[in-house]
Amino acid sequence: MPVIRFAREGRDVECYPGENLREVALREGLELYGLKGQLGNCGGCGQCITCFVDVVAEASPGALTPRTAVEDRKLRRRPEGWRLACQALVQRSLVVLTRPQAGLADREALLAAARAEPLGAGPTAWPATEEPPAAEPTDLESTATAGEAVE
Ligand code: FES
Repeated sequence: MPVIRFAREGRDVECYPGENLREVALREGLELYGLKGQLGNCGGCGQCITCFVDVVAEASPGALTPRTAVEDRKLRRRPEGWRLACQALVQRSLVVLTRPQAGLADREALLAAARAEPLGAGPTAWPATEEPPAAEPTDLESTATAGEAVE
């Protein structure tokens, strides 16, 4: 169901309910990190505080899971709408601004346009997975079986 609109990048990305915001952004090739985070980040452990996003709009309240205890500690002096992408699971559609600490020309106009456009409906459930076919014995297993038969 959720669609994440990345305002800075001008991209709408569909994801499945419960996906991690950082992982979705990285999977889509979006630059989540400023220079400091590009040089080194914690890999999503909530320790480096370099994966900021500003939640600009939500389709309905609670688009992301509530702030974690880590975020409460790490984001004490940051604006209320900021989140650590690595700590947030996407539940409903929303608009985010990546790297909110970085400058952005026409920021207010860009955000107003991102808020104004309706958010599309994304997938409603995780895709069904196919059962893998029954495994054929590998050459190694066949050899071992043959070897056992000889003895
Ligand atoms: S990736 Fe380090 S705090 Fe999110």
